[in-house]
Amino acid sequence: MCSIIGYKGNEHASSVLVEGLRKMEYRGYDSVGIATIKSGKLLIRKGVGKVAEVNKSLRLDELPGNLGIGHTRWATHGGIVDSNAHPHLACKSTIAVVHNGIIENYNELKNELCRSGHEFKSETDSEVIAHLLEEYFEITGDIRLSMIFTCKRLQGSFAFVAMFNSSTLCGARYDEPLIIGVGNDDYFLSSDILGFLNYTDRAIFLDNRDIVILNDNDISFFNFDGDRVSRRMTQVAWELGDADKGKYSHFTLKEIHEQRYTIVKSMQQDKKNLEKFCDILTGGKNIYITGSGTSYHSALLAKQIFSKSKIHVETIMSSEFQYSSDMLDENSVLLAISQSGETADVIQSVKSAKTMGAKVISIVNIPTSSLARLSDSYLEVKCGPEIGVAATKSFTSQIALLYYVADIIGRKSNGILSSKDILVKAVIQVLELDSQIEGIADQLKHSKDVYILGRSLHFPICLEGALKIKELSYIHAEGMAAGELKHGPLALIDTNSIVIVLHPDDSTYGDTLSNIHTIKSRGAKIVGISNKKDALYDYQITIPTINESLYPLIEVIPLQLLAYHLSICNNGNPDYPRNLAKSVTVK
Ligand code: M6R
Repeated sequence: MCSIIGYKGNEHASSVLVEGLRKMEYRGYDSVGIATIKSGKLLIRKGVGKVAEVNKSLRLDELPGNLGIGHTRWATHGGIVDSNAHPHLACKSTIAVVHNGIIENYNELKNELCRSGHEFKSETDSEVIAHLLEEYFEITGDIRLSMIFTCKRLQGSFAFVAMFNSSTLCGARYDEPLIIGVGNDDYFLSSDILGFLNYTDRAIFLDNRDIVILNDNDISFFNFDGDRVSRRMTQVAWELGDADKGKYSHFTLKEIHEQRYTIVKSMQQDKKNLEKFCDILTGGKNIYITGSGTSYHSALLAKQIFSKSKIHVETIMSSEFQYSSDMLDENSVLLAISQSGETADVIQSVKSAKTMGAKVISIVNIPTSSLARLSDSYLEVKCGPEIGVAATKSFTSQIALLYYVADIIGRKSNGILSSKDILVKAVIQVLELDSQIEGIADQLKHSKDVYILGRSLHFPICLEGALKIKELSYIHAEGMAAGELKHGPLALIDTNSIVIVLHPDDSTYGDTLSNIHTIKSRGAKIVGISNKKDALYDYQITIPTINESLYPLIEVIPLQLLAYHLSICNNGNPDYPRNLAKSVTVK
């Protein structure tokens, strides 16, 4: 959830670090800090706020030196205050550490270290790493041994970078990503390739339980048992770093508008990869799909898409997987969906599926992610970097790819391949509704509760629309299967309620119309998203007519735009909603 970065080379380290942190800020953005070394002395500046704000007030990028570490924080242990921001120093100020993850046994370690005389300055779990390194360095006088002994004591998940005043930079990872960028005369240690992609496209991906040590003229790798290991260098795609707002005021808006290209791009798959993926999928006796948040909504929709193609699948929310995974065995296939490929709940699900002998395939946006590397086969949605915390284009790319796969392996087609051109035109038409939707958002901005109703394929879109509204505008929103209204939630509907109805002229039209009448008679305001005009709606968002199965791909877009504009109307920051992070690497 946090981003960490280290740099050692000939450049002015603090400027490189600040730039890298800016690129990775989507991972967490409560506070930020930098430490560098100059003439054997550790210098540190850190504070609460986003990178640009803190840099403006503390001039992080003016710290001298060619070696340094940096961090943006997404608070888990301890409040959002300067003292909890990273880097954390050990007692003698000769070791500084930045950490991503959670140290589960930090309390026990802290008590032990306090008993040996260490003094803590923060409430974080991360600070124990700095003190443990100091403790073991005092005993052994050896950085490699201090790293090994420290890593062995830590329970939980972690990637950390430590800087010693002898100008040594070290890193270690366990269940959190840590990647080395290899430049001509310099090295980067980062939680994401975006942290260094401006400088180099050569990367080394550390494995779990790896330690890396960078001395003046040497880079060496060890595992937690102290054995030397070797790691291969790979070349990563430059386009992964193409993250620029362009003419848009926010990444989120840009990413919503990019759907005119991204949806169909997800269907451009390498033939061999696709075959392998489909073979594994069809080879499973039982197929399960898992994901979190938006990606779980893709899974829910996939269940319906696959069932229309006569393939039965079950969905399991990744955070609940551990409680229902007994069903999986060597005849099972688990399809994991994740934009980032780093979500802890998803990774955990995949690991337990593998221990049960199941095959694992995945749909990811980042081919270098942990999920892709854990999978027997994976497909990329290829929608480019998604920086906005809210998943938008990655969602429609995931579902387009799922339609595509279902149509290839299924007995009955959803028709996505024959409708590609119509689909692109329809997406463009919906995006042109942007300013109309901005006007509706202005009318609805003071709402306290929003309900989104739909049936069948539209139900997962109701859930996704509600998630977008909650996440971006902080307005309470609930997605519901329209038929469930009368079984309880109707009690909530009154003249203050806003009900958005996904109501295209398809097989769900008639039944949903009855629900609309019921709501209308209780005085609620109705926003209809439909291809058929109706005076019943207080506000109508008219979407084009397309193949009935494919509506989810276009009707989610007005909901994304509405959530975006509600955020702007309520003075939110749609790219960085409060309390959230893009890549949720904690459980
Ligand atoms: O990277 P993932 O797809 O695994 O992320 C899963 C969720 O954390 C993510 O979809 C989250 O729900 C989004 N912020 C929703 O907009």
